[in-house]
Amino acid sequence: MKNRPSPRKKIFLIGGARPNFVKIAALTRAFTSFKKAHPKSGLRWQVIHTGQHYDFLMVKSFFRDLDIPSPYIDLNVGSSPHGEQTAKIISRFEKVVLHEKPDLILVVGDVNSTLACSLVGVKVGIPVAHVESGLRSFDRTMPEEINRRVTDAVADYLFTTCRDADRNLIKEGIDPKSIFFVGNVMVDTLLVNLPKVHCSNIRKRLGLGGDYAVLTLHRPSNVDQENDFMEILKALEHIQRCITIIFPVHPRTARRIKGSAVGEKMLGLQNIKLTSPLRYLDFIALVNGAKLVLTDSGGIQEETTMLGVPCLTLRDNTERPVTINQGSNFLAGRESGNIIRLADKILSRKGIKKFKKPTRWDGRAADRIVQVLSKKIGF
Ligand code: UD1
Repeated sequence: MKNRPSPRKKIFLIGGARPNFVKIAALTRAFTSFKKAHPKSGLRWQVIHTGQHYDFLMVKSFFRDLDIPSPYIDLNVGSSPHGEQTAKIISRFEKVVLHEKPDLILVVGDVNSTLACSLVGVKVGIPVAHVESGLRSFDRTMPEEINRRVTDAVADYLFTTCRDADRNLIKEGIDPKSIFFVGNVMVDTLLVNLPKVHCSNIRKRLGLGGDYAVLTLHRPSNVDQENDFMEILKALEHIQRCITIIFPVHPRTARRIKGSAVGEKMLGLQNIKLTSPLRYLDFIALVNGAKLVLTDSGGIQEETTMLGVPCLTLRDNTERPVTINQGSNFLAGRESGNIIRLADKILSRKGIKKFKKPTRWDGRAADRIVQVLSKKIGF
């Protein structure tokens, strides 16, 4: 009886936008090690790409560099307004699910693909697991906040990165038995790849000799309205007088810059260097050597916390308060005076707080997730 293979259980791992692939890489790695350790396990997994992102540097380079198996299916939805994009994913993914009948749909993060595929799961009656559950910015104008809340409301297994996420879920009435504090899968990928970053020659390619800062911007609240973008640019104009700023430009932001007053002003600033989006190892190598990071991304707040690099988050709120309470992140807001004040403080190294790595950000989050799922769905 004991030697009999366990029943076949098929898991769909959903990826759609760039940060999803960094998280999925940790999960496919953990599934592979589980399968090696338990060859008779009925575990099967397949990566489904919704096609929300599609440029080589936003998708394929991540599959290649992080050894993610090629997608079993690409839903090819592409870009469109939020409602239409979400609806396209729902309609295409539902057909796949009805035909393939997976035993679990595993979604990560907070993008439109996360929301759409969770809704399909709950409608069709297939359990949904949400990795990076419970994060809340309490800002309902952010599309990601809506995606997070709805996904958590319908998910069966909620995997969290920090204790405040557990508390948020419990306050929303989620059964504590379905919440699992496992750590951070993005950190798993970072720790596995850190020894490889010295292979990157990105600093040489960018001609960087001395100190530099890294900037990323793509939130609609920062880049969609010219006034908001200009306010941030005012701060950048000051900071680039003290330090070179490297700015890998997200495609959404590239569209806003092209032919606009913001673009004209930015291109006139000698010490801001614009690049295409970077490959994973190049980006981590760049951040690792930076004096300062300025960003509105969620994941970069976590990566800088792990690398101990001071980070200014150019937003009014964060769904990742642990990176501020414990890590090297500072909430700078979007007002130029405040951003300049904090940047000056960091660059002069005065009054910098001590920081530590958050609990369970230890490279084993995905293994913990696989262990929980193995018990819950039986493989
Ligand atoms: C999406 C996520 C955001 C995440 C970000 C990471 C939602 C609501 N937003 O934002 O949470 O932080 O991804 O990158 O899911 N584009 C390209 N090539 C691509 C992808 C996008 O040119 O490969 C351009 C298109 O003009 C598109 C725009 O970027 O309209 C925005 O893409 P979209 O996926 O809608 O949102 P992001 O801003 O990337």
